[in-house]
Amino acid sequence: MIEVTLDRVSKQFGGAKGVENVDIRIKPGEFFTFLGPSGCGKTTTLRMIAGFYYPSDGRILFGDRDVTNMPPNKRNTGMVFQNYALFPHMTVFENIAFGLQVRKKSKAEIRDKVTRAQKLVHLDGYGDRRIDQLSGGQQQRVALARALVIEPNILLLDEPLSNLDAKLREETRQEIKRLQLELGITTIYVTHDQSEAMSMSDRIMVMKDGVVQQIGTPHDIYNRPVNQFVASFIGESNLWEGTVEQAGGDEIRVRLTPDLVLTGLAVNASPECRLAAGQKVTLSVRPEAIHEAGAAEQGGENAITAKVVLSEFTGVSMNYIAQTGPLAVKAMFVGQGHRMRERDETIRFIVPRESIYFVG
Ligand SMILES: Nc1ncnc2c1ncn2[C@@H]1O[C@H](COP(=O)(O)OP(=O)(O)O)[C@@H](O)[C@H]1O
Ligand SMILES: [Mg+2]
Repeated sequence: MIEVTLDRVSKQFGGAKGVENVDIRIKPGEFFTFLGPSGCGKTTTLRMIAGFYYPSDGRILFGDRDVTNMPPNKRNTGMVFQNYALFPHMTVFENIAFGLQVRKKSKAEIRDKVTRAQKLVHLDGYGDRRIDQLSGGQQQRVALARALVIEPNILLLDEPLSNLDAKLREETRQEIKRLQLELGITTIYVTHDQSEAMSMSDRIMVMKDGVVQQIGTPHDIYNRPVNQFVASFIGESNLWEGTVEQAGGDEIRVRLTPDLVLTGLAVNASPECRLAAGQKVTLSVRPEAIHEAGAAEQGGENAITAKVVLSEFTGVSMNYIAQTGPLAVKAMFVGQGHRMRERDETIRFIVPRESIYFVG
């Protein structure tokens, strides 16, 4: 297990910006994910850790060792590429053995290690198959075995599930997590899929346009997004713009429409917000945090009466989009005991004060 440090790392391509000033410390044995939309710099950052790109600025350390300018084959990292980059006309065994052959290991050691790696990814008995005779999921596991067989200190995975169909993706996701826990290996995972990131990671780094937006546990990122980008990229969120009416104490009051003021808690304000009276601020509220007003809450705090524009039943939840004046409310009710509303019916929602985040 090894710690990976990126010390203010930047990468430019000619004049174009790749990534800017990435500053992270990934703990030994941690499952750490780079998350963001296409082109935000995930692969560039991962490739710098593997040694396929060198930073324009900053340093990379494995433990105490500065590897910034070390070639990839000296770093002992195992990488799974997005398209797997397997050798199509070679067998499963030959593909997995490749890294060991390059390292001039003995025949006996190679046989032993490849057999073990095949077992690890449940491909025992597939050694003689050619890659082009395998399914997508099996190819993915060959790529994983090929990365693991060299016993890397760090496992690097670049969108390893993106070529698989939905069901297989879910299974393989659990498989990767199981392997990572079993081997205790420091793992850096790249994805644009927020649910993948949420379900697998110890911590997530959210990126946009080459710049880190937030680093935190899935819980932090989901519940305490620091800005609008993070709030909208991770799961569904209501993003409501309003004007601060009152701030300074434990509470913040924000006017959203002429008839609607919501009260939230000052502890839920990101450092990026300006909270003086009269300032514009954006509120982020998760749809599942909103509930229907009970009989006792009819005149209650943070009540919004809105007309249903769209309702859908997913089996797990009832989802609504409802409108009041210029404000659209997305709400999700999970569980029984709620009567499904049709279009044009009204619902009285309650937005609990602790569920409001001020995201600047
Ligand atoms: N080899 C390269 N040459 C020039 N520009 C590149 C190169 N690799 C990546 N980029 C640019 O760097 C930015 C980040 O790309 P990348 O790291 O591949 O994003 P992601 O993996 O998040 O989709 C993009 O704007 C991309 O066009
Ligand atoms: Mg990429």
